[in-house]
Amino acid sequence: MQFANRTILVSGCSSGLGAACVQRLLGLGARIIGLDRTSEPTWLHTWEGPERWQARYTHGQADVTDEASVQTVVKQGVERFGELSGVVCCAGILHGERVLGRESLASLDAFRKVIEVNVVGTFNVVRFGAESIARTSPQGPDQERGVIIMTSSIAALDGQVGQSAYSASKGAVASMTLPLAREFGRLGIRVVSIAPGVFDTPMMQAASDKVRGPLLESSVFPKRFGIPEEFAAMVQVIFENSMLNGTVVRLDGALRM
Ligand SMILES: NC(=O)c1ccc[n+]([C@@H]2O[C@H](COP(=O)([O-])OP(=O)(O)OC[C@H]3O[C@@H](n4cnc5c(N)ncnc54)[C@H](O)[C@@H]3O)[C@@H](O)[C@H]2O)c1
Repeated sequence: MQFANRTILVSGCSSGLGAACVQRLLGLGARIIGLDRTSEPTWLHTWEGPERWQARYTHGQADVTDEASVQTVVKQGVERFGELSGVVCCAGILHGERVLGRESLASLDAFRKVIEVNVVGTFNVVRFGAESIARTSPQGPDQERGVIIMTSSIAALDGQVGQSAYSASKGAVASMTLPLAREFGRLGIRVVSIAPGVFDTPMMQAASDKVRGPLLESSVFPKRFGIPEEFAAMVQVIFENSMLNGTVVRLDGALRM
């Protein structure tokens, strides 16, 4: 897929993996509708000079779980840049809590919140995104309309103690991938999820050395955390390779947690 003059929605655009995707896709010439619960990210103002992005970036502040505000962000972005050719879902939250804690049982509210943001929020962004991609004119020999990329995690299959909520949420994202690809195939829309290992983003930087140390130790090669640009590079590959569809791609340097 060519990126110039294509519109791509990126959720979780203000930080970490989402921010790296915005930078890479802008660099490739795409127009970006950024969506995050935070206001316009400050890194945009220092990145490559405002003239490089201002004409091709619009920011929508919205909670991914909120139907009306996600719909508004997509509608306003599409009015400015045209119908979508891609969606990259990066908004998500991390939560760790043992079921049988020292002093109390795990919180049901916390479990619900993780499912709400990581599963319901992702689905909400996907459905409004897919609605727009379905209106895009098909392109190229395959008559492709667009690509939807969701972010799962290796915790979907390889969750650690305390990750029951997070693993359940990322497992649900992985499980949605094939049925969505099957449903959207007739429209020329591909759906792929990425299951990252550990990436050095604000989400992981917030973890204690007690958590980070053993994860680094378990890395096979390269013996380091992933950098967000490597995630963004995988996103580009998925956009460009039309045979990638209905699958979950591990991006983890052989880390098994
Ligand atoms: N960093 C890792 O090691 C890693 C590994 C596997 C999966 N992931 C997943 O990758 C995605 C991105 O993670 P990251 O490391 O870049 O984290 P991050 O915390 O740096 O960025 C997440 C972004 O999502 C936004 N967000 C969170 N909840 C939101 C909501 N309800 N509505 C709108 N925006 C919301 C945040 O404001 C933030 O900008 C997440 O889904 C995460 O679970 C990350």
